[in-house]
Amino acid sequence: MQEHIMVKDAKTGKEFEVPGDLLMPETLTIIDSRTCKEYSVPISHGTIKAMDLRQIKTGDDDFGLMTYDPAFMNTASCQSKITFIDGDKGILRYRGYPIEQLAEHCTYLEVAYLILYGELPTQKQLDEWVYHITHHTMVHENIKKFMDGFNYDAHPMGMFISTIAALSTFYPDSKNIHDETSRQLQIKRLISKVPTIAAFAYRHHLGLPYVYPDNDLSYTGNFLSMLFKMTEPKYKPNPVLERALDILFILHADHEQNCSTNVMRSIGSSQADPFVCTAGAAAALYGPLHGGANEQVLRMLREIGSKDKVPEFIKRVKSGEGGRLMGFGHRIYKNYDPRAKIIKKTAEQVFEVTGRNPLLDIAIELERIALEDDYFVKRKLYPNVDFYSGIIYEALGFPTEAFTVLFAIPRTSGWLAQWQEMLLDPEQKIARPRQVYLGYGKRDFVPIEKRG
Ligand code: CMC
Repeated sequence: MQEHIMVKDAKTGKEFEVPGDLLMPETLTIIDSRTCKEYSVPISHGTIKAMDLRQIKTGDDDFGLMTYDPAFMNTASCQSKITFIDGDKGILRYRGYPIEQLAEHCTYLEVAYLILYGELPTQKQLDEWVYHITHHTMVHENIKKFMDGFNYDAHPMGMFISTIAALSTFYPDSKNIHDETSRQLQIKRLISKVPTIAAFAYRHHLGLPYVYPDNDLSYTGNFLSMLFKMTEPKYKPNPVLERALDILFILHADHEQNCSTNVMRSIGSSQADPFVCTAGAAAALYGPLHGGANEQVLRMLREIGSKDKVPEFIKRVKSGEGGRLMGFGHRIYKNYDPRAKIIKKTAEQVFEVTGRNPLLDIAIELERIALEDDYFVKRKLYPNVDFYSGIIYEALGFPTEAFTVLFAIPRTSGWLAQWQEMLLDPEQKIARPRQVYLGYGKRDFVPIEKRG
């Protein structure tokens, strides 16, 4: 934590606080054993700039020192003001607000506004925001034809990713990424349309007619209507389930520089439009180690089948034969994921309406045994956001393949906030990592008849 020091203005006599490193810059001293030269590199916010290492050379023809960090284990790729995580303490905050308070008091759209614009909206700002989001939910009729081209058993995430990318062709104005008005319009379009596309993918899967958005309903109420409305003239969402889904959306809205957000920023850094950026981010989310884990948790719980089989399953995970315990472990959290705690509580409220999902008992038993087991304790593996979310989604009536789409809908606001922050950051450029080349040196071409 950076220290602040009180200083006095000699002219006015006023006292004010300044960051300590402005007066006494913190530095890192490096001695290169190859050349015996000494370098001083500034430290800011607990980091050194990788480019400051480039000056460390053995001679004029040396490229200069680089860092090697596969999977970005210890590299910050940006400065951000959106989301704060303390993985050791299990803390998650959006724009400074603890996730627990936001989940208790806000709607998802209020949180999306906060994440995007930095402050909780006033009532007037919220009303305008909700109005705009509600009035951009329709998609072009050709989108329906586009979706009809998918097989009935196409994975909903495949349909979701492709259709979001296809939206780019409907909105060529989205290429004006440096135009503030255009950018805000695309942000509203994307947040509004992701539930519609997700619901259409679900209805297509079941061979049911698509349901158009209902502007009288809330963001999640309308989503439930587009999913589950049958012949009734007006769909009335169950308020407990509508709120539970809204809470799940709040919990999934952003999570700083995770795999898909890094993809969003990376594609965005080439100045591509936000529709294709979002499609790329959603593709990264699809993987089973990221947002696809919620689907895998359900498959795992079904495979285990009953509580008494849990010890045997844990044994297989530990020996490496049973794969990973899905929904457990996290790159950042080395403590209980705060989102998992809220989801566990929300599950109880949902089950009061839907009846208890029997898979919950297997999940609770898995958690109990894993948290007492040395293998998991030593590696600090705790339940993550995906461990309990799938059980709720199943109770709400979603097929397992649709779970990751339910993650992608709210994460769209986080991706867009990170994309916008990246675009407005003067330090950012096209993302382009370096490599350590370990392949062949130069060799001459060999004609095909002389190979092998
Ligand atoms: N089950 C069993 N062992 C595990 C697990 C797990 N779920 N997660 C990590 N380990 C072990 C791993 O084998 C390794 O052991 P060792 O040191 O003996 O080789 C150690 O713990 C460290 O694992 P890692 O793979 O180096 O950790 P990572 O930070 O690269 O991976 C992770 C993080 C989330 C990919 C990983 O924990 C995992 O695969 N979990 C299961 C998938 C999952 O639930 N993903 C959702 C993440 S939360 C939502 C999101 O952000 O998308």
